[in-house]
Amino acid sequence: AYCAAAFLAIFLPPFCFLPFCMSSCQVKVTVIGAAGGIGQPLALLLKANPLITELALYDVAPSAGVAADLSHINTPAKVTGYRGDDQLPAALSGAHLVVIPAGVPRKPGMTRDDLFNINAGIVKGIATAIAKNSPKAFVAVISNPVNSTVPIVAEVLKQHGVYDPKRVFGVTTLDIVRANTFVGELKGADSQTLSIPVIGGHSGVTIIPVLSASGHTFSDSERETLVHRIQYGGDEVVKAKDGAGSATLSMAFAGARFANSVLEASVLKKAGVKECTFVKSDVVEGLEYFSTVVELGAEGVAKIHPIPNLSEYERKLFDAAVPELKGNIQKGVDFVNKS
Ligand code: NAI
Repeated sequence: AYCAAAFLAIFLPPFCFLPFCMSSCQVKVTVIGAAGGIGQPLALLLKANPLITELALYDVAPSAGVAADLSHINTPAKVTGYRGDDQLPAALSGAHLVVIPAGVPRKPGMTRDDLFNINAGIVKGIATAIAKNSPKAFVAVISNPVNSTVPIVAEVLKQHGVYDPKRVFGVTTLDIVRANTFVGELKGADSQTLSIPVIGGHSGVTIIPVLSASGHTFSDSERETLVHRIQYGGDEVVKAKDGAGSATLSMAFAGARFANSVLEASVLKKAGVKECTFVKSDVVEGLEYFSTVVELGAEGVAKIHPIPNLSEYERKLFDAAVPELKGNIQKGVDFVNKS
């Protein structure tokens, strides 16, 4: 059988963590919404990840072609396409990680919250299937509005008695990727070496870039421009695509990075893997979910870091984010419990 360890020996430096995966090398990752704009490039990047032994591609639209195409790539993951409700249990069964980029994307003039009416129902259905078929899986939610879809997943899992708050993540990685890129461009720095925390939630004012932790200094106008660009960077893509959707390729990159971090921590048992991610958290009183730097471990969330020191300016961003975030979270909770 294929073993990720063998490939890691080829792709990673000798200090890789081979002993940890020698005994249990079966790592199934399921992508729900795999035929979509994010789903396809995300599936490609996951197929290139040598830690994954099985890649299950599910969609309500045809996914067999995507699966057949990817299956010709000579990396370990065995790729299988699944379509429709009947095949969802098989797609999920045995999954180590489920990544969810299912649902409709924004069109020009729409906010992420405008997607709620359609995507809430889609995510609720998927969460129900996860509760029944892969209750122990790590769940990475990409579908927007993340501020509400993460609570939806959590509430559904709670209803089925299988909720583990350490295992449910809202993927906000694209905000961090954007922050690193934009600051790198502005300051002439290598953006790959930057690690700028972006905390809070994942829409508009709930996105709080902590530029004061970037190691760079900014004029007031640079800071204003950067913060706005990070908060509304998705709008640049929506506008440029002119009705054909929102960020897909950069999101696939960000989603694959997040998935890899979860796998490095949980499969390789690598220490010190950190990502900002929207999780059940106590860091802000009155908010059930919040994104700060999270250390990942074998069981998912290992340690939630507190809010970093904020400048006066960032404190104002925080104050603006909290009420909006509270409403978004409540909307998700109510959708499951009151509908
Ligand atoms: P898309 O429309 O290209 O693809 C969505 C896919 O989901 C389609 O293939 C569709 O058939 C599938 N789908 C719909 N209902 C489904 C169901 N019940 N089960 C399985 N699959 C289902 O959309 P795109 O561009 O891939 O975006 C997907 C989602 O990701 C949107 O909600 C978008 O807002 C969100 N997104 C999130 C980002 C983030 O940073 N977290 C960034 C960019 C987009």
